[in-house]
Amino acid sequence: MSILAIIGGTGFDAPGILHVDKHELVNTPFGEPSGPVTRGSLFGQEILFLPRHGYSHNLPPHQVNYRANLWALREAGADSVLAVAAVGGIRADMGPGRLIIPDQIIDYTWGRSGTFFERGLDGKSEPVTHIDFTAPYCEELRQRLLKAAFAGNISVVDGGTYAATQGPRLETAAEIERLERDGCHLVGMTGMPEAALARELKLDYACCAVVANWAAGKSDGIITMADIEKNLKGGMQQVSELLESLLSFNL
Ligand code: HPA
Repeated sequence: MSILAIIGGTGFDAPGILHVDKHELVNTPFGEPSGPVTRGSLFGQEILFLPRHGYSHNLPPHQVNYRANLWALREAGADSVLAVAAVGGIRADMGPGRLIIPDQIIDYTWGRSGTFFERGLDGKSEPVTHIDFTAPYCEELRQRLLKAAFAGNISVVDGGTYAATQGPRLETAAEIERLERDGCHLVGMTGMPEAALARELKLDYACCAVVANWAAGKSDGIITMADIEKNLKGGMQQVSELLESLLSFNL
């Protein structure tokens, strides 16, 4: 049986909808994951869950051990991964509260451990391997999410280019203008190297991005944590509905 793992993002750290069977501490050759892997069930399906920022939301995006997280989920039996991620909206149809299933990424992060091939997948040195990353998200999983959205009558945006920025600060208005010129439509701090590491481990990986705020300069005034939290509440409710549709209809 194939097992879906959910990596929860900001606002989705400990979803109450999850029925927890156990917490599993997984040791990895790459250090500690963000917490124990939760094995449980969601809408009748066995799933794994890991909050990217820790169960008490204490890890900023640049300090997340992405390698350990993906490794631990694969060790626990995952073959596909749904990444839930809070983002800023750049394109006009990506306002606060919207759900987006992106199809492309541009990586602006730096200094993160972004490959398993440094020491080899078995912890020993291996020939350098270059994964194909033309389509950074698994199209089959993306299509399943879109089907679930349609079946559950949940409005989502199909496609979009995710700009992965370093954080933890938000961007300047000029940086967002540059991202827009580059062709980016949404901006978040955790999309990379997570997606690439999943591909290296041959995990099917897709993202459900939830718009927490208009990106810098795209609305009047400043971006406050209070606004982000308020918008994420509604967005994460829709993520729960999307998951219900995906898992209970077995899509
Ligand atoms: N920029 C980067 N990451 C984010 C944002 C943003 O505006 N909002 C939520 N995560």
